[in-house]
Amino acid sequence: MMRWLPLLFVALLGTTLTILVEAAPAPELTIEFDENQIYTEDGKNVVTCNLCATIVEDVVIMLENGTVTDDQIINYIINTCARLNIFSNPDQVCGGMAAIALPTIKYIFSTGVVIPGNICGMLLQGQECGLSDPESLEWTIAPSSNIKPPVNQPSQPPTGSPTIKVLHLADIHYDPEYLSGSNAMCGDPLCCRASSGDVVNATDAAGYWGDYRTCDLPWYLIENAVSQMATRHPDVGYIIWTGDLTPHDVWSTAKDENIMIIDRLMTLVSQYFPNVPVYPTLGNHESHPVNTFAPPEITDPEFNTAWLYDEADRQWARWLPAEVSSTIRYGGFYTALVQPGLRIVSMNMNYCYTLNYWTYFKSQDPASSLLWLSQVLEEAELAGEKVHILSHIPPGNGDCWTIFSREFAKIINRFESTVAAQFYGHTHKDEYKIFYDTVDVNRPVNVAFIAPSLTTYSRLNPGYRTYTVDGQRPDSTWSVLDFNTYIMNLTDANQQGSEVDPVWFELYQAKQEYKLTDLTPQSMDDLFHRMKADDALFQLYYKNYYKNADEAVAESCNNRCKTNMLCRIVITDIADQSKC
Ligand SMILES: *[C@@H]1O[C@H](CO)[C@@H](O)[C@H](O)[C@H]1NC(C)=O
Ligand SMILES: *[C@@H]1O[C@H](CO)[C@@H](O)[C@H](O)[C@H]1NC(C)=O
Ligand SMILES: *[C@@H]1O[C@H](CO)[C@@H](O)[C@H](O)[C@H]1NC(C)=O
Repeated sequence: MMRWLPLLFVALLGTTLTILVEAAPAPELTIEFDENQIYTEDGKNVVTCNLCATIVEDVVIMLENGTVTDDQIINYIINTCARLNIFSNPDQVCGGMAAIALPTIKYIFSTGVVIPGNICGMLLQGQECGLSDPESLEWTIAPSSNIKPPVNQPSQPPTGSPTIKVLHLADIHYDPEYLSGSNAMCGDPLCCRASSGDVVNATDAAGYWGDYRTCDLPWYLIENAVSQMATRHPDVGYIIWTGDLTPHDVWSTAKDENIMIIDRLMTLVSQYFPNVPVYPTLGNHESHPVNTFAPPEITDPEFNTAWLYDEADRQWARWLPAEVSSTIRYGGFYTALVQPGLRIVSMNMNYCYTLNYWTYFKSQDPASSLLWLSQVLEEAELAGEKVHILSHIPPGNGDCWTIFSREFAKIINRFESTVAAQFYGHTHKDEYKIFYDTVDVNRPVNVAFIAPSLTTYSRLNPGYRTYTVDGQRPDSTWSVLDFNTYIMNLTDANQQGSEVDPVWFELYQAKQEYKLTDLTPQSMDDLFHRMKADDALFQLYYKNYYKNADEAVAESCNNRCKTNMLCRIVITDIADQSKC
């Protein structure tokens, strides 16, 4: 029954709880998973604050003891993993993660800035573990000194108005080592590789086109996907690409490998979509050690993130104007004008990620990116432009630090008439979020569209989205008028085998599927309320959330599952669950 202990333990090592739960099914315990919360069947949260505190205390004692060597710390981690029997290869997985992360952890710890008593309260935010020094974590972004303009009801464009087709790529997670027929049941956070061990049962073998278990994507599936996107959507005006390009082998990552993958995928997309601008952002997996994004004041090249920001700047230069370079190299974010009237702001939301060790060093607006966002929106407002915000991690997600999310939501509220839409990935699921007014708390002010992953990781069909956006015309709202999610049926593709190309198809079209007149915040809020009341409508959302994957469809969504899933829609700050 102590299966959850290593889940938390390894979370502290910097992987995600998602990986852990998928990698370590506990047969005696039906676990329901929602970001940083893990529930038993009867709805009890199984990760306790006390447990977290004990582990943090142990690690701190070892770090403070000058005579404890790195090998001793790594061995302690391996032994703990082994004792808890969570991974098949604790030496490799836990030892590898510890060896990669330890220098960064030690460096951060040596600054003396981290307050150990705050760690569990931040990592397990939402569980009210308590913070030893909450004041040290408090901050706000000074509100814009310009008066907020009156909010006008968004008008729908007249029929026949121009529109833009936007393609959204999310969470590709290309695995260069994917091997069809290899072991998909390896007990590591990532399987389906030559190194995943022997296949003991034919049903354990990795599928040709991908696998529903803890596996990422083979190259040929990605190429097939991108090539059919180019054929099917020749009218794409521009592409947004919300990160996580590299695989879930979090125990064996390397900078040059990540750079190779980024280069290969960006080259692929530019070949299939020549002359189509792409607006990218960095996912938490692009970094090494995974999830680590240092604030710009860290100048030591061994520990800062300059290698990745510089590489992103080089790679993205094929699509972006030259002037974005300085902010990308500073903090991994930028703004660019798509067309007169429409601006994109690409944020580096890894700065709110509670699995980024640097969040414990500095959580107060790292790289001043929120202050910068507020200033960019202020200028856009004065210039009469509309803005699309894109990033990897959705604010309000369980792993995005609450105070960052709260400040972000305040900025959105202030500039609700300028921010026409927001776009994210990270969760791998097909979903959305609504932002509400902070005073008139039931008034929806903005919508975040969260696109499904291309990766199957895990128990998912591959998928992607397109949006139809109000186009260039006088008084364009530049808002999302509709979106479409496309998938392939992986069960079917693998049954057909390697000789038959997978069949991609439209899973649904938002307006039609959910009987929406438009996709305004008001209508998306109305959909949330209709789903609460109408279970059949909610079941559609559930099916689409998992991209119609056979296993998820076969399982039903019980009441707790339903509550959690609906709750995700209306939470933009994990500490505020009042809308659930
Ligand atoms: C440091 O660790 C060593 C070996 O584990 C132990 O013997 C020693 O008492 C520790 N020192 C302190 C100050 O805790
Ligand atoms: C192989 O897997 C199938 C399906 O999971 C199972 O029914 C069967 O018992 C397994 N066979 C062996 C030898 O483990
Ligand atoms: C996917 O394909 C399999 C095999 O053809 C089929 O049994 C299953 O019903 C399909 N799934 C959906 C959701 O259509």
